[in-house]
Amino acid sequence: MQDYRALRIHRKGDDQFHVAVENLASDTLPQGDILVRIRYSDLNYKDALAAVGNPGVSRHFPHTPGIDAAGEVVSDVTGQYRPGDRVLISGYDFGMNSPGGLAQYCRVPLQWVCPCPPQLELNDAMIFGTAGLTAAMCLDKLARVQHRAISDTRLLVSGASGGVGSLAVAIAAKLGYQVIAMSGKAGAADSLRELGAQEVISSADWLTANKKALLKPQWHCAIDTLGGDALFNIVKATEREGAVAACGLAAGGSFAATVYPFILRGIALLGVDSAEQANDYKRKLWLHLATDLKPKSLRNLSQEISLEQVPEVLAQMRAGTSRGRYLVRID
Ligand SMILES: NC(=O)c1ccc[n+]([C@@H]2O[C@H](COP(=O)([O-])OP(=O)(O)OC[C@H]3O[C@@H](n4cnc5c(N)ncnc54)[C@H](OP(=O)(O)O)[C@@H]3O)[C@@H](O)[C@H]2O)c1
Repeated sequence: MQDYRALRIHRKGDDQFHVAVENLASDTLPQGDILVRIRYSDLNYKDALAAVGNPGVSRHFPHTPGIDAAGEVVSDVTGQYRPGDRVLISGYDFGMNSPGGLAQYCRVPLQWVCPCPPQLELNDAMIFGTAGLTAAMCLDKLARVQHRAISDTRLLVSGASGGVGSLAVAIAAKLGYQVIAMSGKAGAADSLRELGAQEVISSADWLTANKKALLKPQWHCAIDTLGGDALFNIVKATEREGAVAACGLAAGGSFAATVYPFILRGIALLGVDSAEQANDYKRKLWLHLATDLKPKSLRNLSQEISLEQVPEVLAQMRAGTSRGRYLVRID
């Protein structure tokens, strides 16, 4: 293996960070079981936070971000994979406090690696990436507590034009849910309907705390990517015995709550963490994403970009103006 290209985040001062593509020597990769030649990666909100030094994502700089990667095995000291095997890496500490997927190579522990299902191209796998795993996990958690027929279930998705949101809309519509997309972008309605949303509502009225103990019920379950007061407003507007899967914090990390939706309507609030799930569960979800959960519109909801374009898109993600998924072509 020779020198390789990677996106690097450098700390330039207490609150100043610089992001650019660099050539690195092969000995800058960490020790590990499996060396992978990365073909595609993608962008997630965590990468946008890493680029401005968020200590909840990474505390070590210079840093190679990217919490997802798809590529081919170069070598595996454990003998589980052969050179050329197609593999996927998502979550755990990948791209957080260890170098991630926005690079030509990575070296990772065996437990972080899943085989790429034969039905899935590497680029399609990275259109899903962590966002797709998270959307699939939210739907799986909701299905475990919701026993109403899918075709009769009104499902809200917030932050609907974002990565997790747009995939959740497309996958839920494919499964037959009546999808209500909540978005802050006035111009996103047509594309959200094309992904399968039956209704599109504005997030503007939902973002600030509402003094009412309960709101008029409008959906049976929800996937929330916003967090903050929006999350609790969504809980308060959920039908009796409904459930809300909370996976994000795009609008805030905290909210004021009361017990009323839980004790008067029996609402279940389900936390979702995609990163630290068991490798077996991720493999199962990848197989579903490759087959029954794969929307026809998958490629329409992503834009392919180069490593050089990543810093600009990460800034758009932090500003809340990005749309859908960003597939990063490594070569
Ligand atoms: N729990 C997990 O395992 C997990 C996994 C992946 C992601 N996440 C989290 O899920 C969230 C979404 O991730 P993503 O990758 O989909 O991000 P993204 O592509 O940046 O999408 C976030 C969307 O949220 C809305 N939004 C952004 N900032 C906002 C603000 N200040 N106020 C209101 N709405 C705002 C926008 O959609 P609209 O304009 O359409 O409203 C935006 O497109 C993030 O918080 C991320 O950290 C969690």
